[in-house]
Amino acid sequence: MKQGLTSFIIFVLGLPIFHNFIFPMFQTSSGLNPARYVGFILFVLTFIIIHLILRLKPPMAMKALFVWGFGFYFYDYVLIPHIPWTLFITYMMLWSIGTFLYISQDAATFKEFRRPIVKTIVGEYKLARIVVFIFLPVFVGFTTYKSLLPKFEEPVELRTVHPAPPATTRVHGKTCALEKTRNPFRIQEQDDYQTAFPFLDVNKDFGKGGTGAQYMKNVTEGGTIFFQNCHYCHGDQLNGLGMFSHVFNPTPANFIDPGTIAMLRESFLFWRVSKGGPGLPNESTPWSSAMPPWEEHLKTEQIWKVILFEYWYTGWHPRTFDTEPAYIGAPVPPGGIGSDPETCM
Ligand code: HEC
Repeated sequence: MKQGLTSFIIFVLGLPIFHNFIFPMFQTSSGLNPARYVGFILFVLTFIIIHLILRLKPPMAMKALFVWGFGFYFYDYVLIPHIPWTLFITYMMLWSIGTFLYISQDAATFKEFRRPIVKTIVGEYKLARIVVFIFLPVFVGFTTYKSLLPKFEEPVELRTVHPAPPATTRVHGKTCALEKTRNPFRIQEQDDYQTAFPFLDVNKDFGKGGTGAQYMKNVTEGGTIFFQNCHYCHGDQLNGLGMFSHVFNPTPANFIDPGTIAMLRESFLFWRVSKGGPGLPNESTPWSSAMPPWEEHLKTEQIWKVILFEYWYTGWHPRTFDTEPAYIGAPVPPGGIGSDPETCM
C-alpha cells in the first residue's frame, strides 16, 4: 500500500512539473519538432528508473492507470499537429484496450488488478468507497445540472457600421433627398480627370463644375477644413489613426480602407458628416460613435468640400448613381437617368 502511494505521488507531482517546466524546453518553435518526443520518452524513462532505484512495485491497477495516463498525455499534448477529437477518441479506445489486454493476460495479473476495485466495493477501503459512491455521483450530478441549466445572458448586439440612410435629411434648413443628392463640386461623376493627375489640365473646362483649376481650389479648401477639424480623429493620412483615435470605440473610420468611403455614395457621406454619431439609427448603436455632427460647425458648402478632399486624397471614386435604366423599358426622366440631381445647398 505504501509503495503504491509513493509511486502515485511521484506520478501526480511529476507530470505537472514535467509539463510546465521541463517540456517547454524541448519545444522548438516550428516544424515537426522531434525534440518534444525525445523529451517525452526521457520523462517516461526517468519515471521507470526512479521506480527501479526506489524498488517501488505499485499494484497492478495503478500501473494500468500510469500507462493509460501516459497515453492520454501523449495523444493530447505531445503529439503534434494536434489530432482531431474523433481520432483522439479512437486512439484512446485502442490504448485502453491495449492496457486492458496487458492486465488481463493471465488470471494472476487480472486478480491483482481487481483486488483494489473489489476492496473498494466491499468497503475495505473506506475513504475510496466514500469518494466513489458519494462524492463522485454528486459531482457528476452537479456538473450535469450546471450544464443543463438554461442561461439568461444578454444577447450579443452587433453594430451595423453602414446603416441604411434615411430618405431625406435636413441640413441648415434644407431638406435633401439623399437618393438624388450629389456633390456640387464634383466636376465629373466618374472622376475621369484623375487619370490625368497630377498633371491635371487646370485650364480645361469640365462643364458643370468649372475648370480643373477651380476643382483643385475646392479640393484644397476641403483639405484645409479636414486638417482644421477631422485629422485629430481620422488621422493626417486619412487612415483613421489620428492622435485621439485610440480612445474611441468604434474607432474613427479609415478612409484608405476599401470598406469605407470607397463603397459609399457621396450623399451617404453628406448625411454622416452632417449628423455624426448622434444621427445614427438604433442599429448602429450600442457603442456610441464619437463622430461629431458637423452641421453644427460647418456650412453645407464646407461639408461638400471636405468630402471632395477625402476622395481626392485617397484616390477612391464615390459610388455613383446608376446610369442605366433599372430594367428594359423603365421610364427615363427627361434628360436621362440621374439627370435631375440636387446639390442640397
Ligand atoms: C472626435 C473624433 C472625430 C472627428 C473630429 C471626426 N470624426 Fe468622422 N468619425 C469618427 C468616428 C469614431 C467614426 C466611426 C463611427 C461612425 O461611423 O460614426 C467616424 C466616421 C466618419 C465617417 C463615416 C465613414 C463610414 O465608413 O461610414 C465619415 C464620412 C467621417 N467620419 C467624416 C469626418 C469628417 C469629414 C470629419 C471632419 C469634418 C470628421 N469625420 C471628424 C470620429 C471623428
